[in-house]
Amino acid sequence: MTIGLIGGTALEQLNLQQQQLLEVDTPWGTPSCPLVTGWLAGAQVVYINRHGEQHSIPPHRVNYRANIHALHQQGVDAIVALNAVGGISMEMTPGSLVLPHQLIDYSWGRDHSFSDGDGMPLQHVDFTDPYDQGLRARLLRVATAVALALIDGAVHGVVQGPRLETASEVLRLEKDGCDIVGMTGMPEAGLARELGIPYASIGLVVNPAAGKSDRLITLDEIGAVMKAAQPRLLALIAALCADMAA
Ligand code: HPA
Repeated sequence: MTIGLIGGTALEQLNLQQQQLLEVDTPWGTPSCPLVTGWLAGAQVVYINRHGEQHSIPPHRVNYRANIHALHQQGVDAIVALNAVGGISMEMTPGSLVLPHQLIDYSWGRDHSFSDGDGMPLQHVDFTDPYDQGLRARLLRVATAVALALIDGAVHGVVQGPRLETASEVLRLEKDGCDIVGMTGMPEAGLARELGIPYASIGLVVNPAAGKSDRLITLDEIGAVMKAAQPRLLALIAALCADMAA
């Protein structure tokens, strides 16, 4: 079992055993950065940061196709994506870890499909359940086993960014049924489905979404929540790896 991990704002880097950097190219261009390969808790892991090594690639400029294809080329059996998100519904408080079960894609203008070139087969993949049920169940099971709170189920609204939302945009997302809002959940999930790779996302709520608190959203606040949550996020990933390796 090889596990693909996609980090970003929620997980800027990952230290693996026998770590190696792998420069790869794909038919869809160059991924955001070299892949980091190695072992974690007995499992083989391939990690990529979607924003690049210097966190310089904004959500709408990420080459999602190259990133997903690069992981596919390494033969990953599953992909777990980490996403920093804003909390919309009441229980999505800063610091919460959440396992979305649905998404709504509001992003636009991103290269979002592998069915997109001369000679590429046209696919209409089923996306009724955008996240892999088996992988979600496994994550919930290991979270319980290591006594980590992981909220089961949320609708992830994926917006364009990089700016944050207006209060009215968040109200609209809420009316649509979104529980959390982030900028990088799509087209990643759809591309993984096109390649048949089981994919799940772990959301880390780093702020109340715009208008959901009486304060403005600051990067300092987000950074502090993120830092405090790292041990829990890493523990969850390690528990998943141990389970996959068993
Ligand atoms: N909105 C969109 N994306 C985000 C947010 C947010 O409030 N917080 C972290 N990523």
